[in-house]
Amino acid sequence: MAVQPLILGIETSCDETGVGLVRGTTLLANAVASSIEEHARFGGVVPEVASRAHLEAMTPTLQRALDEAGVTLADVDAIAVTAGPGLAGALMVGVSAAKALAIALGKPLYGVNHLVGHVAAEQLENGPLTEPVVALLVSGGHTEILEVTDIATAATLLGQTLDDAAGEAFDKVARLIGLPYPGGPHIQKSAAGGDPSSIRFPRGLTSQRDMNRHRYDFSFSGLKTAVARWVETAERDGVTVPVADVAAAFQEAVADVLTHKAVLACKERDVRTMVLAGGVAANARIRDLTRERCAAAGIELRQPRLSLCTDNGAMIAALGAAVVERGLPPSSLDFGTDSSLPVTEVLV
Ligand code: KG4
Ligand code: ZN
Repeated sequence: MAVQPLILGIETSCDETGVGLVRGTTLLANAVASSIEEHARFGGVVPEVASRAHLEAMTPTLQRALDEAGVTLADVDAIAVTAGPGLAGALMVGVSAAKALAIALGKPLYGVNHLVGHVAAEQLENGPLTEPVVALLVSGGHTEILEVTDIATAATLLGQTLDDAAGEAFDKVARLIGLPYPGGPHIQKSAAGGDPSSIRFPRGLTSQRDMNRHRYDFSFSGLKTAVARWVETAERDGVTVPVADVAAAFQEAVADVLTHKAVLACKERDVRTMVLAGGVAANARIRDLTRERCAAAGIELRQPRLSLCTDNGAMIAALGAAVVERGLPPSSLDFGTDSSLPVTEVLV
């Protein structure tokens, strides 16, 4: 078999500068520089800080990826870059770098969709996907249920959060109960010593009426408020806040609603494979409950390792490889970034 083209992928939609190298569904390099520590004192990603960090990290991260794969820029056959969705200024750094490389190297450039990239990353772990798949994407920036019928051309958004992203909810609740940023890992750790059934927090958009209108959508702001009220009441009554119990009950509410709706989507769309990705997919309870509910429903659960679950350049290269393999035309060099690029636009 002929050697598959070498695809360079660049990702800068949020706070991770990612550069990956892929051939087909084979991962060759995945270099990531995160600016998360620079955002910690603000309790969330600051777009301007992220853009500046991307600019500083781009060249060294590119070099790291090339070294890791043992190749040079001259070996690259095509370049893929996240065109959106994401933070406008952050996206612009990656797209500018990718355009400069494409012009300098005389290689085709593909502007691709970040969300579909998360699904493509799974192929680097467990080989080609058999579509259709339902993907549950949960991170600090997004919370979506997608249906992908063709990784290179066809994806639809079944549902999304109407307010906070799941990771954002973890971060905000962590702050409420005095745990550091990013909140997810700290909540998980604290929850391990708590009782998830000690408090019953609300599951957003699951009432009969909401299920009619927002079947696959999520809302975490009510949950966040419920935790805030609960903590306020405890403090007002002079009760020591049982941090571990609150963390466990909150985590359970998030895990329950995420997995319930994603499994429901699979069943109702007659899809037999689910992909779980995004930084929040690192959560042990969310992973376990997803696995449990998928198994009960006869759904195959596919999940890449954590470094491919969080934002990275290899996922963009993987999607680029699928697009190149399909023989689709490259993006024109004048394409712009689109911070709210719809998931239906796999390639711009
Ligand atoms: O995908 P990701 O690394 O990047 C961005 O969205 O920027 O996701 C980061 C998010 C943060 O909100 C963090 O709190 C959450 O993922 N997270 C977790 C866990 N590890 C990271 N949430 C719950 N449980 C975890 N173990
Ligand atoms: Zn992402």
